[in-house]
Amino acid sequence: MFKRVQSPEEQLRVMMIRAIVFMEEQGIAYADEMDMHDATALHILGEIDGEPVACGRIRYQGDRAFLQRLAVRRAWRGQRLGSALLAFMLKECRKDGFGRFDLHAQTRAVGFYRRHGFTTCGEEFEEAGIPHVHMWLRDTTPE
Ligand SMILES: CC(C)(COP(=O)(O)OP(=O)(O)OC[C@H]1O[C@@H](n2cnc3c(N)ncnc32)[C@H](O)[C@@H]1OP(=O)(O)O)[C@@H](O)C(=O)NCCC(=O)NCCS
Repeated sequence: MFKRVQSPEEQLRVMMIRAIVFMEEQGIAYADEMDMHDATALHILGEIDGEPVACGRIRYQGDRAFLQRLAVRRAWRGQRLGSALLAFMLKECRKDGFGRFDLHAQTRAVGFYRRHGFTTCGEEFEEAGIPHVHMWLRDTTPE
């Protein structure tokens, strides 16, 4: 149900989810939601019966994978889709050789990421008018 975006049609589906969740539901302005990194990032799309319901974006910088724009449309929340999305994104990063993951969590989503092993780091800050906190996770290599 999750895949790496490989066509303009799939990219459009991702952007529609982001417009619904971040722009409409959370009131984030278009100029904040879209940025120059969309052109080069790896995008993930989740669909159920042909309906686009979940998405996320991955950016590789140095030895880190930045996980961004995770969203599940409201009607599909609370069924562990978000957890499955995050697990899929981590798996794709690992396939690409990355073992260090960073994200800016909306403060209300900190518990969600903690359950998946992420740790908070530093003070709360504001991004697009919403409180966030930096979180990270590193794979441990067997001794
Ligand atoms: C965060 C999000 C992706 C989780 O998706 P999901 O499919 O509901 O995730 P799961 O079912 O695996 O886990 C649900 C848990 O996330 C928590 N959660 C965190 N943020 C939430 C939010 N904004 N809305 C609803 N639940 C949220 C719920 O409390 C729930 O916790 P519980 O299991 O203790 O009840 C989804 O809520 C979402 O798209 N939110 C809006 C966009 C957003 O804030 N993205 C994160 C940016 S950092």
